[in-house]
Amino acid sequence: MKQMDTKTLANYINGEWMEAEHTAPVINPATGEEIAKVPLSSEQHVEKAVQAAKKAQKEWALVPAPQRAEVLYRTGTLLREQKERLARLLTMENGKVLEEARGEVQEAIDMAFYMAGEGRRLFGQTTPSELKDKFAMSVRVPVGVIGIITPWNFPIAIASWKSFPAIVAGNAVVWKPATETPMMAYELTKILEEAGLPKGVMNLVFGSGSTVGDAMVHHPNIQVISFTGSNEIGRNIAAECGRQLKKVSLEMGGKNAVIVMDDADLELAADGIIWSAYGTSGQRCTACSRVIVHEKVKAELEARLLAKIKHLTVGNGLNEEVKVGPIINKRGIEKIKRYIEIGVEEGARLLTGGYELIEGDLKKGNYFAPTLFTDVKGTMRIAQEEIFGPVVSLIPVKSFQEAIEVNNCVEFGLSSSIFTQDVKKVFRAQRDLDTGIVYVNAGTTGAEIHLPFGGTKGTGNGHRDSGIQALDVFTEWRAVYVDYSGKLQRAQIDVE
Ligand code: UN1
Repeated sequence: MKQMDTKTLANYINGEWMEAEHTAPVINPATGEEIAKVPLSSEQHVEKAVQAAKKAQKEWALVPAPQRAEVLYRTGTLLREQKERLARLLTMENGKVLEEARGEVQEAIDMAFYMAGEGRRLFGQTTPSELKDKFAMSVRVPVGVIGIITPWNFPIAIASWKSFPAIVAGNAVVWKPATETPMMAYELTKILEEAGLPKGVMNLVFGSGSTVGDAMVHHPNIQVISFTGSNEIGRNIAAECGRQLKKVSLEMGGKNAVIVMDDADLELAADGIIWSAYGTSGQRCTACSRVIVHEKVKAELEARLLAKIKHLTVGNGLNEEVKVGPIINKRGIEKIKRYIEIGVEEGARLLTGGYELIEGDLKKGNYFAPTLFTDVKGTMRIAQEEIFGPVVSLIPVKSFQEAIEVNNCVEFGLSSSIFTQDVKKVFRAQRDLDTGIVYVNAGTTGAEIHLPFGGTKGTGNGHRDSGIQALDVFTEWRAVYVDYSGKLQRAQIDVE
């Protein structure tokens, strides 16, 4: 395999690429090799970025939205032209297999064209006034400077969900991507620059959450924080934003379940589970980490899953044969190992996996065997807490009602799925499953960009990434009344 040159990445502030004094190595999780150096920026970099964004935003907001959208059309085109190159870089920094990396870049392409279309919509409402000769409407206005903080597991897709709607709506952005996956951020920012985004509208500041992220959250000139990451950090961000009355959109964990009823197509269910549980090595917010199965079909489903797991080749995702790539870093591996011990102590039965893979070349990277526990109870820690790895807990139940209850008995509410042929169960499930996304006869992953992405309960704080709903995070509603009667008309009083 060809070795990539190590390159030192740079921040992008006010339209200029600037290297920082301190850097950290970026490690390919498949090989342990250093593939780049990422700047570790300081509060001063954030300050410069915010000042640039504040200034640029004033002019950007006055550019007609269809023209702002032209930048996104060009961005979408450039992403499409460079899709294969970007997918390879994504696999190298994140580890996900090439096929999934292509899918993720496609997600950003879709989002670019979708949000570009919004340049000619950004719909508000016109509505009758209660008074004669008076006009009433609501319009979206940009909020100002948006701080976005993105995770390593979907480094370009999630960045596109947040930055594209912010940009088309007339805001400027300060972006802190995860230090594990800076290359996608660097590439996307270069593409935005090439697409003609005016300087200062997008500012990229690499660095740690505790320095760069913290400075953004505390900065009085950043009006919105949009964050995807861990529950603990999200809660701290929300607390600080609460003190400042800063708008905050949070997208956090999941403990997503696939429900398999006794009338399900078991082969289809097993395929859906394998794809949504072990794809991205289970490192998706939407990954299936619980299977709630009717006891009548439990044994058969276990057998089908085991047969399929045997065929999952684990390795470097650049190899097209590989189905499961590495875990992002050693910390991730250690966390997964701890949960395996916890599961065994809790009395769950390990059917397969449960160990780190270290034979041959695998020992250079961070690999974990696809793992399946069975006879798990819904209240066990392995069935409650987010593991973020290729670990699935099978929970047997006796009825549809019990399946719904088990699904809902976790702190998170991102995604859920049911496999059944019964239309009554389908409609009851979509009503009663307490998650922001519900799938029927498909696994828990595969959200499309034109629908709202997000969850209930501990998954978020009521906002949505992607879909038309993303615009609500990055705009304020303004109600506008135009009185053309030429006299004083008092609402609520001068009505006939
Ligand atoms: C995430 O895991 O944070 O639906 C995002 C999916 C992908 C996005 C996942 N389209 O699984």
